[in-house]
Amino acid sequence: MNEVLERESGYFSSQFGGAPDGLWSAPGRVNLIGEHTDYNEGFAFPIAIDKRTTVAARVRADRLLRVTSSSFPGVIEVSLDHLDPDALTGWAAYPLGVAWAMSRAAAGGAGSAAGSGVPSRLSGLDLALTSDVPAGAGLSSSAAVECAVALALNDLWDLGLGRPELARIGQLAENRVVGAPTGIMDQSASLLGEPDHGILLDCQNLTTEAVALGFAGAGVGLLVIDTRTSHSHADGGYASRRRSCEDGARRLGVGSLRALGPADLPRAAAQLDGQTYRRVRHIITENQRVLDTVTALRTSGAATIGRFLNESHLSMRDDFEISTPELDLAVASAQEMGAIGARMTGGGFGGAAIALVRNDDAAAVAAGVARDFARAGYTAPHIFPVTASEGARREL
Ligand code: GLA
Repeated sequence: MNEVLERESGYFSSQFGGAPDGLWSAPGRVNLIGEHTDYNEGFAFPIAIDKRTTVAARVRADRLLRVTSSSFPGVIEVSLDHLDPDALTGWAAYPLGVAWAMSRAAAGGAGSAAGSGVPSRLSGLDLALTSDVPAGAGLSSSAAVECAVALALNDLWDLGLGRPELARIGQLAENRVVGAPTGIMDQSASLLGEPDHGILLDCQNLTTEAVALGFAGAGVGLLVIDTRTSHSHADGGYASRRRSCEDGARRLGVGSLRALGPADLPRAAAQLDGQTYRRVRHIITENQRVLDTVTALRTSGAATIGRFLNESHLSMRDDFEISTPELDLAVASAQEMGAIGARMTGGGFGGAAIALVRNDDAAAVAAGVARDFARAGYTAPHIFPVTASEGARREL
């Protein structure tokens, strides 16, 4: 057993006594490009990263769910007979929200009642979570929890659900229980990620395609620049962007912005108010940039995708207005220090930027960004490399 798994088993024993029935893990994600496109039925291109949440789990003889996390004190308990999505709060809302959503799926899907409808064949569980995915950095630490727990429950409750379905369960937990109106990208990346590949998501029909990144061959890599400024998607900014997009689609007479392409921009400009137009323009151009990035990776290689990352950042800064001074500085500074491309990643309003760098330049880019943050009087950023890694898996 490797060190992490040994630590996780030890943590489980210290909380619950004895050994777990199994260990499951799921990674956080970095989105290479395609931001706020998922809930517009568009394209996104994330990777699963080499930072994971692990859950050790054991079936109980009764109906109690007990959950503990090495990041928070205490053990939270709730009976499967009283699993009420409206009563779940704090960090435990993520694992218990997944248990609620899984129990609904076990009861026959979306239509069944919450709480009372949990089938009697489902047993209680002890769950112990540990994670090295930084929280609040826009790296989907919440999706990592959701997907690790979803995979564990799928096995222990013998539900036989496929990964796309597990992704929807994680999203449902986040939307309904946590109250964040997020899309399907984070859970899809965490469940479907592959080493050295980006996952091209078509959020209209939820099809996915693994696309080779070729970073090693091109001598390039990704740096995450966590600005350590907070973001929370349950807050207003994310939801208001989503509403603008839906409003724009309605006023342009389409079911979702996915139905529109660059040729529709003049009509959108004529029909929409300035702000809604800029929101719509971001989504339309961002979908195109995802496709352009994938084409460039396949034809001219990783060193040629920088332009799309840079343009994506400008579009988020100026049209979608979800960047922050810290994210803008991280991007500008990385670019000045020779990054191939850089952009904020994730939902925005804080969190992390990514920089695609030549391996030989990585140290200088990191040092330059840290220096510029210090000069600006900002909190020192947390800068680290990430690699595209395998999605959720059973470890033991
Ligand atoms: C958050 C959400 C995702 C997606 C991104 C923005 O990470 O959870 O569904 O909308 O923001 O691309």
